[in-house]
Amino acid sequence: MVGAVFVATREVHVSRLQADHLYKVFGRRPDEAVRRLAAGADREELRAEGTTAAVVDAGFTVEPGQIFVVMGLSGSGKSTLLRMLNGLLEPTAGRVLFDGRDLTALSPRDLRTVRSTKISMVFQHFALFPHRNVLENAGYGLEVQGVPRAEREVRAAEALELCGLAGWEKSWPDELSGGMQQRVGLARALATDADLLLMDESFSALDPLIRRDMQDQLLVLQQRLKKTIVFITHDLNEAMRLGDRIAVMRDGRIVQLGTAEDILVRPADDYVASFIQDVDRSRVLTASAVMTGGATPVDCPADCACQAVGPDTLVADLCAVAARAPHPVTVEDSDGAVLGVVPTERLLAVMGGLGARNAEDADAKEVTVGA
Ligand SMILES: Nc1ncnc2c1ncn2[C@@H]1O[C@H](COP(=O)(O)OP(=O)(O)O)[C@@H](O)[C@H]1O
Ligand SMILES: [Mg+2]
Repeated sequence: MVGAVFVATREVHVSRLQADHLYKVFGRRPDEAVRRLAAGADREELRAEGTTAAVVDAGFTVEPGQIFVVMGLSGSGKSTLLRMLNGLLEPTAGRVLFDGRDLTALSPRDLRTVRSTKISMVFQHFALFPHRNVLENAGYGLEVQGVPRAEREVRAAEALELCGLAGWEKSWPDELSGGMQQRVGLARALATDADLLLMDESFSALDPLIRRDMQDQLLVLQQRLKKTIVFITHDLNEAMRLGDRIAVMRDGRIVQLGTAEDILVRPADDYVASFIQDVDRSRVLTASAVMTGGATPVDCPADCACQAVGPDTLVADLCAVAARAPHPVTVEDSDGAVLGVVPTERLLAVMGGLGARNAEDADAKEVTVGA
């Protein structure tokens, strides 16, 4: 395979992305609005004066190789935040640090270079050029960078193969299904070899089955490529499937920042709690989140058919083991050391959503043991 040549010669490099007290205010007197917001002013108060606080004091770090998901309803400020991360929008206040460099302080020219070589965007509706074939579409970002045709074609073909589109290079966009077109968009972003991928509702327009398939594909690709990814969605299930960490946005502010498990087990407020009701907890929570730490495993006979599980076992799989076991399931680390035990009542309580809605709840505190 020709593509391998480029994989081998391009060095693998990953980047850290940081947002530091980021604000974006549209409308009148934005600086004054930032001062008032920082002092606790309400977004609605400003709205009444014709000022929109689209992003308010956003701060987070995306570690190299992580998928960071920004989740929130329409209008909560997700796209505005994303556009500040790649320098398309200038923050009203705050900084964006990429590889330790302050993007907001770069000259327009340096910013353009960073944007075209280090950052790739994938949108919800990926506009392919109808009169260019799939290979030319996938190589478009490289064309913009001035990469010579021969290298462009090899790298674009390699990216298409990564996205499951080998054999479609000579096809025209209108010969492809919506899901395949979206994969061409993803291939275009991957072909440039950017460290940072910014994905704005990239899968939101797809049918549920194709969407799930794309999520799986992204996770598989990410294991290989280890990009730094910011993925925007309004769907909490999608957020939880993809995100190493998730920021939940409401009215321009990040109201919770944590892992899928943090959000399910300890929602920051009633707003976040209202979202998690529809989430399939059995496919998010793991044995480590539901076990009772420090408990002694049952002393069972040598011929007992029971089976220990690892701490990362999904609760869905844990249930299947528990259903066959004659006693509570033991959780062990890879060296066989006992980490805890999962009493059946606890498994049922967690599946039923008990102890996860209210952090004051004694049960919720217990659920966090070992998490
Ligand atoms: N260029 C703009 N001028 C004025 N208001 C804007 C502009 N872009 C976005 N907004 C407002 O900022 C808020 C956040 O929008 P957006 O970031 O697009 O949210 P999301 O992507 O979460 O749907 C909305 O109230 C939107 O109307
Ligand atoms: Mg948006």
